[in-house]
Amino acid sequence: MSKQVTIQPNFEISGLLKVKHRDTKLDNFQLYKSGRYALFFGLKKIIEINPSLKDIYIPTFVCPQVLMPIDKLNLNKNFYQIDQNLCLDKKYLEKSVNSNSIIIVINYFGFPSEWEYFEELKLKTKCTLISDNCHSLLTKYNGKSLSEYGDLSFNSFRKMLPVLSGSQLFYNNEEYSINNRVSIRTPSLSELLYMFRSFKPGFIKTRLGDTKLVGHYRPDGNNKYFFDPDSTNTIDSLSDKLFFNSLNNYQKIRDKRQQNYKSWLDYLPESDFIFLNELKADNDTTPYVFPCIARSKEIMDKWLVWGRKRNISIINWSNKRDDLNNHLRLMLLFPVIPDKNIKLTLLNAK
Ligand SMILES: Cc1ncc(COP(=O)(O)O)c(C=O)c1O
Repeated sequence: MSKQVTIQPNFEISGLLKVKHRDTKLDNFQLYKSGRYALFFGLKKIIEINPSLKDIYIPTFVCPQVLMPIDKLNLNKNFYQIDQNLCLDKKYLEKSVNSNSIIIVINYFGFPSEWEYFEELKLKTKCTLISDNCHSLLTKYNGKSLSEYGDLSFNSFRKMLPVLSGSQLFYNNEEYSINNRVSIRTPSLSELLYMFRSFKPGFIKTRLGDTKLVGHYRPDGNNKYFFDPDSTNTIDSLSDKLFFNSLNNYQKIRDKRQQNYKSWLDYLPESDFIFLNELKADNDTTPYVFPCIARSKEIMDKWLVWGRKRNISIINWSNKRDDLNNHLRLMLLFPVIPDKNIKLTLLNAK
């Protein structure tokens, strides 16, 4: 087993032995290589059906992978504010959104967004909602999977399940359904490298595999390495076999992730961090990470070094936008992967 405590789970080859057949005729989703591809094809479908939908609203707290498909489709980007409690600027949305607007709603870090508000806004304005569920694949809200919210919803398997690739695009609005299941493909070299990252000796510091170049996105550059919708963009054959089984195992995954979440909450000092008090992991929540805000840049850097020394991946999930809330620049994510016991790791990590 890998010594590194990573944010995303390691590929589980043994899972292939337990694979059960799935009747793909029952699928109410389309499978893609990853979240950004699902978003691209979902948006493409929306604007094919309704070409007047050109204005898209995106939270300021967003990663480049969400912007790639939007830029490729030349949509007009508008940004709505997110504050340090992950609350959104409702006044701005209320005065700007209309029936020609598409809104991206991100369910951050395994927690539901303010869905009552968005559903009411949709009723009032007839806007189109897309639920970005890349962090929250296994979380339910009011008894429903978060995949069932929004006109379209998409996720990212690799963040939560021990697979190499894959994303479901759910069409909760029949109008947008896509029915062209593309054949699966063999895993790519970068995915295979990623699969073996857990066996990488500690002295090799470079990251292996697909995520390597993601930080260098420039809308006007050639971004083919990490986003090329003309390439084969479906799920790889191993992950296609594995994901369904892993989804069925979700209660075990949820319990372990909740336990690990709590261990970080108990361990990290309030003098160094602002905790997101609104984010309570209840029975329906499967956290992607333990998120918290460092009280200064120096404190953030101190903890990044602390993690590196102890083989614990901690990441600063942020962006360089001028309009990003200053606290959110210092957002740190701590790993809660289910195959590790964070309490034990912390007891051994002096
Ligand atoms: C909130 C969010 N949305 C979308 C994506 C894109 O997902 P993927 O990396 O599977 O393309 C990511 C991560 O990269 C993400 O963090």
